[in-house]
Amino acid sequence: MKDAAPQMILLSDYEAPDWRVEAVDLSFDLDPEATRVTSRLRVRRVAGSPGVPLRLHGRELERLRLEVDGAAPAADAVTEDAEGLLLQGLPDSAEIVIETRLRPAANTALEGLYVSGGSLCTQCEPEGFRRITYFPDRPDVLTRYRVRLEADAGRYPVLLANGNRMEAGELPEGRHYAVWDDPFPKPSYLFALVAGDLACESDRFVTRSGREVALEVYVEYHNRERCAHALASLARAMRYDEEAFGREYDLDVYMIVAVDDFNMGAMENKGLNLFNAKYVLASPDTATDSDYVHIESVIAHEYFHNWSGNRVTCRDWFQLSLKEGLTVFRDQEFTTDNTLFGVKRIDDVQRLRAFQFPEDAGPLAHPVRPDRYAEINNFYTMTVYEKGAELIRMLGTLIGRDAFRQGLDAYFERFDGQAVTTDDFVEVMAEVSGRDLGLFRRWYTQAGTPRVTARTGFDAAARTLRIDLQQRTPPTVGQQDKAPLHIPLRIALLGRDGRRMSGRLGAASAADEWVLEVTAASQSFQLSDLAEAPAAISWLRAFSAPVLLDAGQGTAELAHLVAFDDDAFARWDAAQSLLRRAVTARVAGQADTALEAILTDAMATLLDDAGVEPVLLAALLELPAHRELLEWFEQVDPIAVHAARTQTERAVFGPIAEALQRCQPEVASTDNGEFTAAAMGRRRLLNQILAMRVALEAEGAAAAAARQYHQARSQTLRMGALAALNDAEHPLREELMEDFERRYRDDPLVLDKWFALQAGSQIPGGFERLDRLLHHPGFRWPNPNRVRAVLGPFMAANHRHFHQEDGEGYRRVGAFIERLDGLNPQTAARLVQPLTRWRRLDPQRGERMREELERLAGLEGLSRDLNDMVQRALAPEPESHSAG
Ligand code: PHE
Ligand code: ZN
Repeated sequence: MKDAAPQMILLSDYEAPDWRVEAVDLSFDLDPEATRVTSRLRVRRVAGSPGVPLRLHGRELERLRLEVDGAAPAADAVTEDAEGLLLQGLPDSAEIVIETRLRPAANTALEGLYVSGGSLCTQCEPEGFRRITYFPDRPDVLTRYRVRLEADAGRYPVLLANGNRMEAGELPEGRHYAVWDDPFPKPSYLFALVAGDLACESDRFVTRSGREVALEVYVEYHNRERCAHALASLARAMRYDEEAFGREYDLDVYMIVAVDDFNMGAMENKGLNLFNAKYVLASPDTATDSDYVHIESVIAHEYFHNWSGNRVTCRDWFQLSLKEGLTVFRDQEFTTDNTLFGVKRIDDVQRLRAFQFPEDAGPLAHPVRPDRYAEINNFYTMTVYEKGAELIRMLGTLIGRDAFRQGLDAYFERFDGQAVTTDDFVEVMAEVSGRDLGLFRRWYTQAGTPRVTARTGFDAAARTLRIDLQQRTPPTVGQQDKAPLHIPLRIALLGRDGRRMSGRLGAASAADEWVLEVTAASQSFQLSDLAEAPAAISWLRAFSAPVLLDAGQGTAELAHLVAFDDDAFARWDAAQSLLRRAVTARVAGQADTALEAILTDAMATLLDDAGVEPVLLAALLELPAHRELLEWFEQVDPIAVHAARTQTERAVFGPIAEALQRCQPEVASTDNGEFTAAAMGRRRLLNQILAMRVALEAEGAAAAAARQYHQARSQTLRMGALAALNDAEHPLREELMEDFERRYRDDPLVLDKWFALQAGSQIPGGFERLDRLLHHPGFRWPNPNRVRAVLGPFMAANHRHFHQEDGEGYRRVGAFIERLDGLNPQTAARLVQPLTRWRRLDPQRGERMREELERLAGLEGLSRDLNDMVQRALAPEPESHSAG
């Protein structure tokens, strides 16, 4: 019988550790087939009564030796269970020596010690260290590490671990060694080592207090020309953290190692980050502008963890957002200030709404600080990361910039070297600001996206605007009843001339932007001293809270915002609302031609407005993503939504195809090798308009795409041209795809882009194409980037085949995930996510999808990761309190 309900870990069961590990000495005799690890732990009892057992976690380990104070412990003093070892009857202070043997070459899960390319490397967060040696593998056990690495000198000339290199030298028989010491106590999840034959590209950085830091990026030799952007991004992030957050780096060296096989984006191990090569390597010919931006933000993210995560870490994994939410917030601020103006915020919100809102509305919903889990790997989610970042942002909005910065300083200072909780964080913010944040804390414990409804009335005689607000959060799994939250709504009023109006909120002095603090289920505000009735209300400026807002705005009001709003997000959101209404009308079978005509006019005006930054114009022209549109329906046929979206695009932009073309920047002048925000913005607009013209089947558009492809010097324009043609049944598409494959056959990161286009294309023959991709010489099951490049776009973009009515697409995906689960459970569990949306599809498709989940659930030997996801997807959903 399969175990349907896996064991739950509960936050309420948390107990502080009884034992401290005072220091650990690790010695690695490295070899891909047989690595020996000797660990020497000095432990001391700090709580509990004498003899209280010491838990050492261990998973899939071969144990060669266990000694306590130099002798083998009595047989009844050691218990072995599924979690590892329990040592009984230890003296209050003891030295434990453990030797284990590992086979890194056989480790396809990519957790613990494994092989990538010709290198040996580690991934320990969250629970990978227990696959290396027996240890109290929990984040609240902080220890000093000293690490000795020994390996064949020819095969592994580079030997790296956390901290500073103390010693290195030759050994007999062609072997060598290095000793590393990390002066900062750290939890085991931040441990890392690398052994390989790697090139090192380096730079120097002087911190503001004058400390010299070596910056080192390690890559395979053939990639050494592609490190400059990563190095420059790292230096920018280090400077930014000093200037914007007062945080300085603390070791003599900062190392980044790029590996081809990695489950996630990157990992912040102390002083030795490990990166998915995709977030390190860049050259104009191989990386797009958005790759450049992602690299910069991931480099910054991992760097910022040095303070938010490493110096101050999490008490337990329920607190994951303590480090991730805060660090995402910090990297978003950095990228906003460094690259894309207001459009970075638009991109971030779009991601949140397309991925986190659905998570919050489906069977995987959980609070930013969860209170239970079966498999912690499955909680590296959009909710913990992106919604967590929104909570930090709201705190800043509520207490103000200065108090917020003061709070961060106090947080880092007070908890330096400690493992703490999200409550500790909010507590500091409350203290420095003198604000009561008791209600705000509920954001951390209550799942679900709040619905806010706003209605207004203008009193011409009194020159006041009355604003009535209501909030409600729908029930989520395991949380039936919801309470009101503390929501900051940033608003402004636009007059008929499009300018912001001045007025007074309550007794405060006159202003032209306000933050309404909503704290009750139902609440009213009043704005007074207004010169006229506002022509439009700019709601939720800069997306001041992660809520779904219904302000009951009419078409004319939204069009006014599209024309005039000075808040990039609110302006874009107004355009999105109009476009979404047009698409939903078509899904319901009745095109709203009046609305479409208004949209055409509004878009034509934007195209004529030289004051709109190209990058913002590109965003404003974009239709809401398919994923986001699906969320507006209780149940819907996803192919019908795609068709309605395409028809709307034609109806709105068809009449102004020529104006679009006139606004399209030129290839030659735009493809200038510059990576400034302005240059990237122009290229984004160029590609956006090209894609629209191909979709509109505009005269000569396909040929223009082919010309752009051939002329392009940058990957951005080459990929833009190819992507524009990807859904077109056009001989040019085949020709260019073949050319691209030939050109980049030996470049895995670029070939991934080709795999993604092929898998995501909706032209007929999708299943045959999928088969060919799986048998392509470049396809490798053990490589997460490659499997994601195929399955991700197949599910996200290839609606026609993924959602084929007979369920063939779901069966293909299920078979793929089943096979992957045998190799890499963590990646399999992440990829299964789209199948958990089955209830939101039309009943027939939903049933086919559910059947595939049932089939997976019934398999023997499913991983804990995948089983947890499948069980949650199939579990009964919460009752709705009321319809709608
Ligand atoms: N902690 C990493 C980050 O967000 C993500 C990660 C989690 C990487 C688990 C590997 C494994 O920066
Ligand atoms: Zn992180």
